[in-house]
Amino acid sequence: MMRAGFVRCHEEVAVRAAVLPRIPSGLEIAEVEVDDPGPHEVRVRVVASGLCHSDLHYMEGKYAWETPTVLGHEAAGVVEAVGSDVTGFRPGDHVIGCLSIFCGRCEYCLSGRPALCTRQGLERGAGEPPRLSMDGAPVHQFLRLSAFAETMLVHENALVAIREEMPLDRAALIGCAVTTGLGAVFATAKVPPGATVAVIGCGGVGLNCVQGAAIAGAGRVVAVDTLPWKLELARAFGATDTVDATADDPVGQVRELTGGGVEFSFEAIGLAATAEQAFAMLRRGGTATIIGMIPEGQTIALPGSDFLDEKRIQGSNMGSNRFRVDMPRYVDLYLNGRLKLDELVSARIGLEEINEGFAAMRRGEVARSVIVFGEAEA
Ligand SMILES: NC(=O)c1ccc[n+]([C@@H]2O[C@H](COP(=O)([O-])OP(=O)(O)OC[C@H]3O[C@@H](n4cnc5c(N)ncnc54)[C@H](O)[C@@H]3O)[C@@H](O)[C@H]2O)c1
Ligand SMILES: [Zn+2]
Ligand SMILES: [Zn+2]
Repeated sequence: MMRAGFVRCHEEVAVRAAVLPRIPSGLEIAEVEVDDPGPHEVRVRVVASGLCHSDLHYMEGKYAWETPTVLGHEAAGVVEAVGSDVTGFRPGDHVIGCLSIFCGRCEYCLSGRPALCTRQGLERGAGEPPRLSMDGAPVHQFLRLSAFAETMLVHENALVAIREEMPLDRAALIGCAVTTGLGAVFATAKVPPGATVAVIGCGGVGLNCVQGAAIAGAGRVVAVDTLPWKLELARAFGATDTVDATADDPVGQVRELTGGGVEFSFEAIGLAATAEQAFAMLRRGGTATIIGMIPEGQTIALPGSDFLDEKRIQGSNMGSNRFRVDMPRYVDLYLNGRLKLDELVSARIGLEEINEGFAAMRRGEVARSVIVFGEAEA
């Protein structure tokens, strides 16, 4: 069928989605209309979608987004339909979505840092119909994905195709937690073999820092959390030592265990206090990498004289990824038995259970919950 640009064909599909009506708020299951793909867009049947703490930060009002919106940004699925100019995907392809959509034209894309892309020309224009709508009114797309829905309509540069033998519920986790945690270790901090590492916060992201450090060959990997079961899980992911942050000052404990501090620390919670701890537990010349989303408007304080010891602190956005290269490699690592993903999935839930899933995250009961739509695997 010939289509010119955005001439409407009224081929939208109605799908079930978890809508955030306002901020702060819980999610409401509702029917959302997903438009037909534009020239560079792809419609994906979502098979699995993970619950990330970042979604919860928006629900709780720690970060702002336009509402109503459909949250979710950690998903894998199967291509249903492609736009007229899409050449890299076809219906039936298994794909992972990534919020680090790249434009290929900005200074960050062109200098090899596409995770920092300023995203030129990837959205629909003001005169065009919205990708998502409800009762005729636009629904804002979250992080250019909106993955808590049976179907996603995204720009082709938000997707990567993967091997079909990869189970899609575990592939979904590669969409955020795995790429963020491994990438922070491999690409942002570039941890070398033998290094001494500490990871503060052993949830979905932090456990992937722990296993990333183990894969990178770190000599010591100290896991820090407030929950004993998370520390036990961290050992299964490669931690050589664990620190219960409720028992005593975690900085003192890490410094003592490592003979004066670590070369690399990672904060994977999103609190100012633990970001300051990450810096304080460094040895001379060490680097702290902050992954957690510290609430908008908050600042952190650091002792200025520590910079004479050449200590560094840096942020990491989605593990400084180049996801079209990285994600298929992570799939290979999993299928070769070198990456733990089965142990990361604490619960497979239905879309209707999503608020309970986030409540379980808040209570610290899960490493990751994954929504599985329809059949467990495509
Ligand atoms: N920078 C990025 O690109 C990026 C990407 C994904 C997620 N994030 C952020 O990373 C953070 C972690 O996300 P997640 O999904 O892994 O969250 P999570 O809720 O699964 O894990 C957080 C962990 O921190 C532990 N914790 C809480 N308070 C603690 C404390 N005071 N000391 C030690 N441990 C403590 C919890 O027990 C839990 O195990 C969030 O802030 C999220 O928004 C950032
Ligand atoms: Zn995330
Ligand atoms: Zn760009």
